[in-house]
Amino acid sequence: MKKLLLAFVCVVLLLPSRADDGMWVPALLDKTRYDRMVQLGCKLSAEDIYSVNNSSLKDAVILFDRGCSGVVVSESGLIFTNHHCGYGAIQSHSSLEHDYLTNGFVANSRSEELPNPGVTVSFLVKMSDVTDKILSGVDPNLTEFNRKTKVQENSDALIAEMSKTSANKFVVKPLYNENQYFLYEYEVYTDIRLVAAPPSNIGKFGGDTDNWVWPRHTGDFSVFRIYAGKDNKPAPYSTDNVPYKPKKYVPVSIKGVAEDDFTLVYGYPAFTDQYLAAREVELMVNLSLPQKVELRRVRLNLMEDEMNVNPLARIQYAAKHAGVSNAWKKWEGMIKGLNAVDAVEKKQDMEQEFQQWVAQDQSRNAKYGGLFKKFDANFKVYERYSPVFDYYNEAVLGSEILVLASRFYSFLNKNSSLEDDAFKAEFKKYIQTLDVYFKNYSPAIDKRVFVSFLQLYRKNISAEFHPEIFTTINAKYKGDISRWADMVFEKSVLVSQERFNAALEKWNKNSRKKLFADPALNTFLSFYSVLLDKVANPYNACILSNDSLYRIYMRGLSEFHSDRILFPDANQTLRVSYGQVEGYSPNDGVRYGYYTTIDGIMQKNDSTISDYVVSPKLMELWKAKDYGQYADSTNQLRVCFVASNHTSGGNSGSPVFNANGELIGLNFDRCWEGTMSDIYYDPTLCRNIILDSRYLLFVLDKVSGAGHLVQELKIVK
Ligand code: ARG
Ligand code: GLU
Repeated sequence: MKKLLLAFVCVVLLLPSRADDGMWVPALLDKTRYDRMVQLGCKLSAEDIYSVNNSSLKDAVILFDRGCSGVVVSESGLIFTNHHCGYGAIQSHSSLEHDYLTNGFVANSRSEELPNPGVTVSFLVKMSDVTDKILSGVDPNLTEFNRKTKVQENSDALIAEMSKTSANKFVVKPLYNENQYFLYEYEVYTDIRLVAAPPSNIGKFGGDTDNWVWPRHTGDFSVFRIYAGKDNKPAPYSTDNVPYKPKKYVPVSIKGVAEDDFTLVYGYPAFTDQYLAAREVELMVNLSLPQKVELRRVRLNLMEDEMNVNPLARIQYAAKHAGVSNAWKKWEGMIKGLNAVDAVEKKQDMEQEFQQWVAQDQSRNAKYGGLFKKFDANFKVYERYSPVFDYYNEAVLGSEILVLASRFYSFLNKNSSLEDDAFKAEFKKYIQTLDVYFKNYSPAIDKRVFVSFLQLYRKNISAEFHPEIFTTINAKYKGDISRWADMVFEKSVLVSQERFNAALEKWNKNSRKKLFADPALNTFLSFYSVLLDKVANPYNACILSNDSLYRIYMRGLSEFHSDRILFPDANQTLRVSYGQVEGYSPNDGVRYGYYTTIDGIMQKNDSTISDYVVSPKLMELWKAKDYGQYADSTNQLRVCFVASNHTSGGNSGSPVFNANGELIGLNFDRCWEGTMSDIYYDPTLCRNIILDSRYLLFVLDKVSGAGHLVQELKIVK
């Protein structure tokens, strides 16, 4: 019996344990971290992952445009990123005659590749710790505001210094709650051409219905190419430019993945908040997120009501709806997830242990004693003001006419000192910048949003923060917000470009004054004054104070957890996170497998739901089981899989590597039950969703007929 027990213990110990949280700075991979990766199966050396002097995986990983990640896959600068990351570029080339968004796009030769002004690809040249430089002259007794000013000055000076001898872009970013600062040097390419995109019924299959959801069947990829000057350096778009020759490009594996395989996600997660105090998480779960979720839901309902009956509105609001819905669904998932894992209680327990540890030692007490008392005082302030702040952002600025009013207000102010003629000329130019805005604007939707949001503000926000227009609405409109909205939408120029043009045509010496008296502008200003006069000062003071407390807390936490190194929150800089291919169990009795197949696409097929209309070509290939070399060993075609890498927004398009550094897929989402991982990662619930590289190649090759692109790759079979 004893022997048996011993054997059992050994087996348990040998079982691969679950992957850890963390988005690690590749230049700082410590031995413990690296050993852990090896334990999970990694065969790469730390130098293979990140090296300044030799080419390493990092040289193939890109920051795609401003918010996504991507990877170089050929010696001629071909890159993969997500479909939703290339969406704007694909849309910009789409028209009724060439609807690449709907039908997909393939450049059959280099000359057909389409330029995208404004789109950039950045390569990290190197990252280095510049804490000493940035903190030079920063006295510990400075106020938080003055500290930030000094840090900014030092950063600007450093960047100016570096920029003297280099055309590269330099960025300074804080790590560990502003305890440490890194300088990042990027080579930024600006001639980026669209090479291929799947049709939307593949690249966006499942749409918003499946967004944040596992099991998933989205072929979320697009293909671009980096072009460079003859010297291989960044150059503005020119027909003389040539495909970029990368320092490193990665092979694409079609060997497939199995449960427990090692996975490495390499990319640019934008923002996480792992070290929040329990009380702040509590306020987030009980106060801020539910409020924001409600406001988003109201907006989505109103959009959908109109989009369902009005085909024009459906096109106009497609991207806006996707954006509003994306955060709405994520926040709802976060509330559920944070509750499900008792994040607040767990953080409270940890804080208690921390405080006990502090109390044990005089010097710790001097540094960290009283921290939570100060936090709590700030959270009281925060609790009082943050609802107003959230309502300002989500409700006031949730109405498009009020957003335009805020921008128009800046325009008016900026040009207020101009002579009338010069002002009129600027006004004319301003109107032209509104083309796209009005192309995608429905006053019918916006007016209903405007009414609902003003009503909700009046109902849910304490009277002391009510704007002055509420008094007017009470006095002159019997408190009827709808009638106020009727008046605003009837009289404001901000409702259409025609009205702007009419104002220009009828220009006279009173015109400018009239613009300042615009009722939409004044509705906006009335809310804005509340924010400035009653909220900004106490709220900002509280945020500044918290910044300084969190900086101290972070130092305390690192000391407290002296047995391990903590990872810094994401800040849109290059990170690696490691994990394993694994399914999960979101609820009692439910177990999700780790991969999906093309069969699942056919099961979802529903010609009456636009998100689930299946590509006819895909259907044909499925019927013939014509999967070519992309099938798995059972002649099944896999579409997506899940793993336990800790990822966040910005990791879209991130390459996912196997133990040998071969590309096994593109990261594009997280599962709904695990969206709380930005605040609290739970290894049993948090999964990232990855497009299987085999499905990507299958779609390129068999659906889009872009075999020539597949030939450009280095395929590992
Ligand atoms: N949830 C993914 C992310 O956060 C995909 C978003 C794009 N897709 C969509 N249906 N809105 O960015
Ligand atoms: N879709 C997200 C993005 O655009 C990635 C998903 C996530 O937040 O993990 O970056």
